[in-house]
Amino acid sequence: MAEVVIVESKAAAGALVADEIVALIDSKPDTVLGLATGSTPLPVYEALRERLAGHDVSRVRGFALDEYVGLDPEHPESYRSVITREVIEPLGLDPARIRVPNGAVETIEHAGDDYELAIDAAGGVDLQILGIGTDGHIGFNEPGSSFASSTRVKTLTEQTREDNARFFDSIDEVPRHCITQGLGTILRARHLVLLAFGEGKAAAVAAAVEGPVSAMLPGSAIQLHPHVTVVVDEAAASELKLADYYRYTFANKPAWQGI
Ligand code: GLP
Repeated sequence: MAEVVIVESKAAAGALVADEIVALIDSKPDTVLGLATGSTPLPVYEALRERLAGHDVSRVRGFALDEYVGLDPEHPESYRSVITREVIEPLGLDPARIRVPNGAVETIEHAGDDYELAIDAAGGVDLQILGIGTDGHIGFNEPGSSFASSTRVKTLTEQTREDNARFFDSIDEVPRHCITQGLGTILRARHLVLLAFGEGKAAAVAAAVEGPVSAMLPGSAIQLHPHVTVVVDEAAASELKLADYYRYTFANKPAWQGI
């Protein structure tokens, strides 16, 4: 089962995950990180900023989960721009080593296969950061996505377009298609770290962690992975049936184990 860590704040979640990433980079300087966008991973990137100062990050590699199709990469809300602004620049990573799926319409037919080949060539993702959508999507794998799927083009649900409209001037600007790592791609990463904050995510978190494994709730794919850490605040944990057990387990965890 996933290890669930219930923390008191976003900052505490960021610190916990950032400590793990720093240890990983120190032990493997060419660590391959799976990078997520959205508001959820920001506390991790913030915590990494101070923790990575003085560490050698010149060989760190990264693969973003997803990108909008047909949105100019220079648009401030393209995931290429978001990853540059939130991750590459503040952490001092080498932009040439950080890839984002290519959402250009002209080459979209083979963009998914190209991305899979690049992840394989890098030796796979060591640690994949994940958020979760209110409908249970991870990456942009909307309900119904195959657990065996690899990077490909998907159509966004109206719910996701509405959720993401806050980043754009109007909902009409939100693209209808995206290119996303598949659930199969995500499951090939060696360690999955899923974060969620706030009441709005409570139902999706409970369904992903404790509900039936179902393509209708793509986040439930994490139950098929042998090494998953779910880091949530009290509000996002509020619908977990085994919350007390998770608290007890974490409080009694041997220090050497890490997350
Ligand atoms: C988007 C991203 C997902 C992210 C989700 C949740 O749809 N493609 O990777 O997990 O939004 O966003 P937020 O973290 O802002 O709640």
